[in-house]
Amino acid sequence: MSENIDWANLSFGYMKTDYNVRCYYRNGAWGEIELSSEESINMHMAATCLHYGQEAFEGLKAFRCKDGKIRIFRMEANAERLQSTCRGILMPELPTEKFCEMIKKVVKMNERFIPPYESGASLYIRPLLIGTGAQVGVRPANEYLFVVFVTPVGPYFKGGFSANPYVVIREFDRSAPLGTGVYKVGGNYAASLLANKKAHDLGYSCEFYLDAKEKKYIDEAGAANFFGIKNNTYITPESTSILPSITNRSLMQLAEDMGMKVERRQIPIEELETMEEAGACGTAAVISPIARIDDLEMNKSYVISKDGKPGPISKMLYDKLRGIQYGDEPDTHNWVTVLD
Ligand code: PLP
Ligand code: COI
Repeated sequence: MSENIDWANLSFGYMKTDYNVRCYYRNGAWGEIELSSEESINMHMAATCLHYGQEAFEGLKAFRCKDGKIRIFRMEANAERLQSTCRGILMPELPTEKFCEMIKKVVKMNERFIPPYESGASLYIRPLLIGTGAQVGVRPANEYLFVVFVTPVGPYFKGGFSANPYVVIREFDRSAPLGTGVYKVGGNYAASLLANKKAHDLGYSCEFYLDAKEKKYIDEAGAANFFGIKNNTYITPESTSILPSITNRSLMQLAEDMGMKVERRQIPIEELETMEEAGACGTAAVISPIARIDDLEMNKSYVISKDGKPGPISKMLYDKLRGIQYGDEPDTHNWVTVLD
C-alpha cells in the first residue's frame, strides 16, 4: 500500500497513481490494450471531443475488503451504460469484455492505491471515451481513445453518510426532456456547473433539478439520482432526462429484497412534504441523506430530517449496499467481481 497517504481524510479529488490503460479505435476496429504511466493525452486540435463534445465517461469503484480481497462493483452495468451513451452520440461501442478487462487491469496495476478497509475510502475508477479524429464540420470522428484512470477517494458530499441540505434550482436545466440527460456525456456536466456554483455559494451541498418541460417533477441532483421513502415504499423518478444510475438500480433491488414496495414514477415536488426519508444516490455519493430541500423561488422549504440525522431505512439500505461492496454481506445478485 502507498505510504504517506492520509486514507481516512481523502477528499473526492484527483491523485496521481502509477498507471492508466488505453485502447485506440482506428480504421473501424478497437486495438490492443496499452498500459501507460503518462498522465496527459496528445491529440489533434480539431478532435471532435474538444469542439463538439463527442465524449463520454463512466464512474465505478473498487474496494479493499476485510478478507484481503479486492472487489469491483457492477462493472458490466457500467460497460452497458457506456454502450448506450455511444449509441446516443454516435461513438463506436466498446465490447463489455474489453471494458471489464481494462477495468481489472487498471485496478490491479494500481493496487497500492486502493484504500484500506478500515478507512471507509475506495478506489474511484474513471473510464473516458473521446473522439480524437479531426473534423471541422459537425460529424462524428473516425478515431477514438478509450482511457481508464483511477484515484483513491473519500466522500463526495461533506460528512459522507450524514444529512445535508439541497436546493432546487429553477432557473437552469441540466438537460432537455429529449436531450442527452440519459447519457453520461460531459455536456450535461458543463450545463450543471453554474447551477452547482449557485447552490454552493448559497451554502447548499448540491443543486436539484426539476423536469425541464413543466418544472413540476423532481428529476435529479447534479451528480446523483433521487429517492424518497414513505409507507414502506422506495420511490424514485421516472424521467427521460436523468441518468440511469446503477446505484439507484441496486437500491431498488435491495429495497425489494427488504420487503419494501418500489415505485418508479413522476414525483411532484410538493410530494416531498409527505416523504419520511430522502436521499441522493450514486457511485460517488453512495447514499447521501437529504436533510432538507429548499425551493427558494417558491418560498418553500421541505424539511425531511427534523433532527438532521439519516433515517432508519436509508441507513439499512446504505449498510446493505456497503456490506455487499466490501464483501461483508453475501453478493446474492452477482454484482461484485473479486479480483484474482
Ligand atoms: N446522476 C448523475 C447526473 C450522475 O452523474 C451520477 C453519477 O454517476 C448518477 C446519477 C449516479 O449514477 P451511478 O449510480 O451509476 O454512479
Ligand atoms: C459518479 O458518481 O461516478 C459520478 O460520475 C459523479 C460525478 C463525480 C460526476
